[in-house]
Amino acid sequence: MHNKQFLYQITIVATLGGLLFGYDTAVISGAISNLAEYFGLSPAQKGWAASSALVGCVAGAILASYVSTVLGRRKGMIVASVLFFVSALGSGLADTFSAFIIYRIIGGLGVGLASMLAPMYIAEISPASQRGLLVSLYQLAIVTGIIVVYFVNYLIALQGDATWNLNLGWRWMFASEAIPSFLYFVFLFLVPASPRWQAMRGENNKAKNTLNKINGEALADDIFEEIKEELKQEKGTLKDLMTPAMRLALGIGLGLSIFQQITGINAIMYYAPEIFKSFGSSGDTALLQTVMVGSVNLVFTVIAVYSIDRIGRKPLLLWGMVGMGICLFVVGAGLYTQSTGLWLLFFMLGFVACFAVSWGPAVWVLLSEIFPNKVRGAAMSIAVFIQWTANFAVSQTFPMMAESEALKAQFHGAFPFWFYGMMSILAVIFVLKFVPETKQKTLEEMTELWETRSKK
Ligand code: BGC
Repeated sequence: MHNKQFLYQITIVATLGGLLFGYDTAVISGAISNLAEYFGLSPAQKGWAASSALVGCVAGAILASYVSTVLGRRKGMIVASVLFFVSALGSGLADTFSAFIIYRIIGGLGVGLASMLAPMYIAEISPASQRGLLVSLYQLAIVTGIIVVYFVNYLIALQGDATWNLNLGWRWMFASEAIPSFLYFVFLFLVPASPRWQAMRGENNKAKNTLNKINGEALADDIFEEIKEELKQEKGTLKDLMTPAMRLALGIGLGLSIFQQITGINAIMYYAPEIFKSFGSSGDTALLQTVMVGSVNLVFTVIAVYSIDRIGRKPLLLWGMVGMGICLFVVGAGLYTQSTGLWLLFFMLGFVACFAVSWGPAVWVLLSEIFPNKVRGAAMSIAVFIQWTANFAVSQTFPMMAESEALKAQFHGAFPFWFYGMMSILAVIFVLKFVPETKQKTLEEMTELWETRSKK
């Protein structure tokens, strides 16, 4: 019998990494305008204030491979929690713009680390039958972090008048992250190290012990043997990533990361109020509509959590992307023909719903399960690094595409949406041709899958 309660408890602790991911990337939205005024920032500096954390994320994802092997998944997450804590206090107390940027990059490092280590850890402690559900809880935590910080920002802004908000309000917004990071730090001491990492280090008794607690003794022995067997077969060097089987797995991991981002989700997540204004909404309404985006994101992620082990990853990715593509083309058409209005909001929310039920969680689930134990650290780290790079590229270029006078004259604002729509067609082809179904397979069976596939 699985010890479900124990499994859920340790999963929830690890998902706090996702909560901080959402919290840290979205906190800027509520603080940026006062922060810019306080430091007297130029538009370019304002952009840097927002995107500097993403640079930290890219670097953190690169470091994650090393950290996951040398320190382990759990201790790596402890390091991330310390980085979040330092960043929260540092950016809240910063007295110069440069100090602020440095502390935001430190927080970004934490996000980059946690964004790989948390789903990896969850996949490694989960029994195959529940892995999809448990890793998607991580995505649920990201989305929850986004909504929570939105409300925290709002509540903080209510605590004083305009002058207070200009001088202090934004500082409290950043500093508030110290609370969840401290909790993450403390709770991480209550969870075991990943049994797969322990087995890799030859700490067999410890690994067995952890597997026993999670899976019950009968199952634990089988899983342990499977892990040992798989570890025997491969050596974990970078060269091993270059075998035909691993090149295939890595290619799919990269494709998933890139398509998750270049179909535009974060253009919506980071610029929603601006987009809604371009549909004809007033400032206040645009903020309200942004809350709707967050809520739809949350509700449909909950649906995904329950569907991913039943329906499987592939159908969700396929139909989710078809839905996202249709919504993108329709929104583009509405803008192109200048028939804007409330109905566009419906399709925008449709896009977010389709993403939340499919590519949001499924990409993290697949990234955490498609690579064999020995190379999982290096391979996931590369895939997550590419994801943050693609995220950075999209967040930087969306305003450039949306505000370019030449593009506006020709496409009336439709260009970015049609561009993302074209990418969604490529994503559908990619899923059909390359992505395998991995539901219910043990992490060890995954290795065989790539071997057979690469021979075909
Ligand atoms: C992505 C993030 C995105 C979030 C939105 C995650 O899966 O990795 O880039 O902001 O979903 O819900």
